[in-house]
Amino acid sequence: MLKIENLTVKVADKEVLSDINMQLKPGEQMALLGPNGSGKTSLLMTIIGFANYQITRGDIIFKGKRINELSIDQRARLGIGVMFQRPPTVRGIKLRQMIQLISKDKFNTDKEASLLNLKDFLGRDLNLGFSGGEIKRSELLQLLAVAPNLCLFDEPESGVDLENIALVGKLINRILQKNKDNASLIITHTGYILDYVQADRGCILVGGKLHCMGNPKEILETVKKHGYEWCITCAREKPKKQYHQSRK
Ligand SMILES: Nc1ncnc2c1ncn2[C@@H]1O[C@H](COP(=O)(O)OP(=O)(O)OP(=O)(O)O)[C@@H](O)[C@H]1O
Ligand SMILES: [Mg+2]
Repeated sequence: MLKIENLTVKVADKEVLSDINMQLKPGEQMALLGPNGSGKTSLLMTIIGFANYQITRGDIIFKGKRINELSIDQRARLGIGVMFQRPPTVRGIKLRQMIQLISKDKFNTDKEASLLNLKDFLGRDLNLGFSGGEIKRSELLQLLAVAPNLCLFDEPESGVDLENIALVGKLINRILQKNKDNASLIITHTGYILDYVQADRGCILVGGKLHCMGNPKEILETVKKHGYEWCITCAREKPKKQYHQSRK
C-alpha cells in the first residue's frame, strides 16, 4: 500500500525528516509514536503532499506508483486521506457542503452526522468555532465520507473527552473496515486509541529519525516507563527481535 524509501524532508530550510524507511502492507495498521516536534505531522504532511514539505531525497510509493510529484488532490483521488491535527477553519463552506463535495455515492450525511453527535454542526462553517473534540469528530465524518484506502490519523484522540474516545475509536475502525485492504498510520501520544484499533506494528520517531519498529503496546509501555531516550539507545544496541524487552 505504502512504501517510503530513504525519505529526507526540509521545511523552511530545516531538516525535519531524515532517511525514513517504512512500509505498510494492505490491511496493515501502524501506530506512530514520538515526542513533540519529532516530525510525526511532517511525515503525514509529506505523504499527502503539502508543498512546503520539500523532499530532498527519497521516494514515496503508493499502490506501486511513485507519488513524489503529485499534487495533494491527485494523491487524495488515488486514495490517501488525512485526519489533520489542526485543520483550517473555512469560512463560507458549511460542513454539509464539504461532505457533499467529497463523499462517495450513497453517503447518508444526516445519519452519519447523527451517529457522531454532529447533526447540529452540518449547517455551520467548517470548523468555525468548533471545540477541539468537535473538530476531531468533524474530521472523522469527512474521512468516513471520502473512504480512503490509506488513512493518516494525526492524534485522533487528543482533546477528545473519555466518552467520545470510544466513539472516535469505533469510527476509525469503521473507516478502516470499509475495505479489507485499507491501511493506516495512526499518531498517538497516549495510546488510548489502541484500545479500539488493532495496530499491527508501532514505530518511534525522534528528531526526524525512525528508531524502532515493533509491537505497539510494548513500545508504548516502554516509553511510559523509560522515556524516548531509552528507546533510542535500546534500538541501537539490541538486535531487532529483542526491542522493548526490559533491561535486566
Ligand atoms: N513551516 C515551518 N517552519 C519552521 N519549522 C517548522 C515548520 N513546520 C514544522 N516545523 C518544525 O518541524 C518540527 C517537526 O514538527 P511536527 O509538527 O512534524 O512535529 P510533531 O512530531 O507532529 O509534534 P507534536 O507531537 O507536537 O504534534 C518542529 O520542530 C516544528 O517546529
Ligand atoms: Mg503533530
